Amino acid sequence: MIEIKNLSKIYKNGKHKFYALNNISLNIKSGEFLMITGRSGCGKSSLLNIIGLIDDFDSGDYFLYGQNIKQINKKQLAKTRLNQIGYIYQSFNLINELNCLDNIQLIQGYAGISKLERQKNAKSLISRVGLSKKANSYPSELSGGEQQRIAIARAISNNPKIILADEPTGNLDYNTGLEIMSLLKELNKQGITIIMVTHDRDLLSYSSRFLVMQDGIFIN
Ligand SMILES: Nc1ncnc2c1ncn2[C@@H]1O[C@H](COP(=O)(O)OP(=O)(O)O)[C@@H](O)[C@H]1O
Ligand SMILES: [Mg+2]
Repeated sequence: MIEIKNLSKIYKNGKHKFYALNNISLNIKSGEFLMITGRSGCGKSSLLNIIGLIDDFDSGDYFLYGQNIKQINKKQLAKTRLNQIGYIYQSFNLINELNCLDNIQLIQGYAGISKLERQKNAKSLISRVGLSKKANSYPSELSGGEQQRIAIARAISNNPKIILADEPTGNLDYNTGLEIMSLLKELNKQGITIIMVTHDRDLLSYSSRFLVMQDGIFIN
């Protein structure tokens, strides 16, 4: 599904070059729940953003479904991002001015799905994350765990094949974090490939495989 070969990401600061990712290679199969762990600053988010087609890289290759992403044009990349990948962030990234149902519908709106169908889908998604009773609430009226559930409902609204989660439990207390992990695990069982980065090694038991990063390379 995902094949990364000898990939590097460099941040330049004047003449100084900093390798956030240093010649890394990685294969991810469909159906995996892969976790990437390591200390803050080791390159986890940089890698996830490259996998998610949000950031570019400086050398190496990245194949998604066998396609070299350097050879895909911008329009097609945007379409792939929209239709194949769901994103979950540490800080939820919900729109405060929209209620939960409208937040969940956002991505389907970009994808040009009709309003009626979007509303129907959003109701079914909010029930899938167990929050039907909060449909008309605004993000500020929800707990952190509830906000993350709404963000997850939004992330799966276009039936992505892949979910990328960047420290999804980072802003949550321990038990709420575990609830979010159970929800992700359930989505993985339903067939979504999940790639999650976390500095919390206690969560690795939820993965089907994990990798440890240090200074831009994998050390296991
Ligand atoms: N836009 C940027 N410009 C310069 N340096 C950056 C930038 N983004 C990240 N870095 C640096 O790259 C390293 C890896 O960052 P990141 O991928 O965010 O790590 P992690 O997610 O593991 O905490 C860090 O040292 C960070 O300071
Ligand atoms: Mg990070």
